[in-house]
Amino acid sequence: MNDEKQNSILDAQEKLNLLTEFGKQIAHHNSLDTLLGLIAQQIQKIIGVKRCFIFIKDESRNEFWSKIASGKGLKYSEIHLPLNGNNIACAVAQSGHTINIADAYSDSRFSKELDIITGFKTTSLLAVPLRNKEGKVIGVFQLNNKEDNTPFNSRDEGLLKLLATLASGNIEIAALYEEVKLANLETIYRLAVAAEYRDQHDTRTHLAHISAMCEILAKKLGFSAGEVENIKNASLLHDIGKVAIPDHILLKPGKLTPQEYELMKEHTKYSEKILKGAKSKILETAYKMSVAHHEKWDGSGYPNGLKGEEIPIEARILAVADVFDALCMNRIYKRAWPLQKAYDYIVSKAGTDFDSKVVEVFKKEFPQILKLYEK
Ligand SMILES: [Fe+2]
Ligand SMILES: [Fe+2]
Repeated sequence: MNDEKQNSILDAQEKLNLLTEFGKQIAHHNSLDTLLGLIAQQIQKIIGVKRCFIFIKDESRNEFWSKIASGKGLKYSEIHLPLNGNNIACAVAQSGHTINIADAYSDSRFSKELDIITGFKTTSLLAVPLRNKEGKVIGVFQLNNKEDNTPFNSRDEGLLKLLATLASGNIEIAALYEEVKLANLETIYRLAVAAEYRDQHDTRTHLAHISAMCEILAKKLGFSAGEVENIKNASLLHDIGKVAIPDHILLKPGKLTPQEYELMKEHTKYSEKILKGAKSKILETAYKMSVAHHEKWDGSGYPNGLKGEEIPIEARILAVADVFDALCMNRIYKRAWPLQKAYDYIVSKAGTDFDSKVVEVFKKEFPQILKLYEK
């Protein structure tokens, strides 16, 4: 059946309602995961299917991946298929044509590979290409088994093609956004590792612990999801200024003399020089956190002797996470403390070194924090 004929099966009002509802649901989502989840949910609802795969083409990895496979009893998972494999998604992407199969196991184009991976028995199947504005295939929508166990009909084909047309622009933008975001975060992470690598061999663990703790604490302190993400990622750069500290101080295998300690404290000032004037939200947050994470609630910290709420809240959160993790780690000048002893220390310093409000949340969330150390 040709495209015109299929689309004519949907009347104008039906198309308009569908377009409006679907468009409303998927608009304003720049997280690819969320967007694909929503699209899969909508398709499942509109067409009534048991499984919905949205395969995205990744030419750099030479594969299709589907993060979302929604349907009754199916958990979120990620599936990878080779771009030139013997599967329906590849066949649709290569030919650019719809494939509609009423009895999958008796059709030579069908491979059981995906069923073996997912533990699901496909009976009927419908797959359409997902094209960008230039007409290039960027993915494939694949539906397996209708809820009512009937084969997919031409109305389903028309609907799925329409939904693919509506969704492709959003998917492409979200994928690009994700790529840029990932590139940004990777740069920040590598920079952070470079800064911390010189004095600690467990840098990655330290960074993973403090960013996870900052996330837990910020979330419970009522920050929005976007702010939590920002604080979590910005925390990675808290000691970026250490790149400017000389080796004989940074790598000294013993206690620093008072003069050496004064020089070590300068790392916050170097962080300031590196990050001051940053325009992006994440680096602006990293600036606040790195400059003020050694300030203390009672004003006895450094570099500026800030007191109480003069210290940015992001830095007050990081201070708790950073000190706790530093105590629990082996360093060239000390052995790791037991977790309970480090916990008691943080609690004992509420209201002097740390913001009591942050310590309260730390206490409540301690079971969750402990899980980070079980890994
Ligand atoms: Fe520091
Ligand atoms: Fe640190």
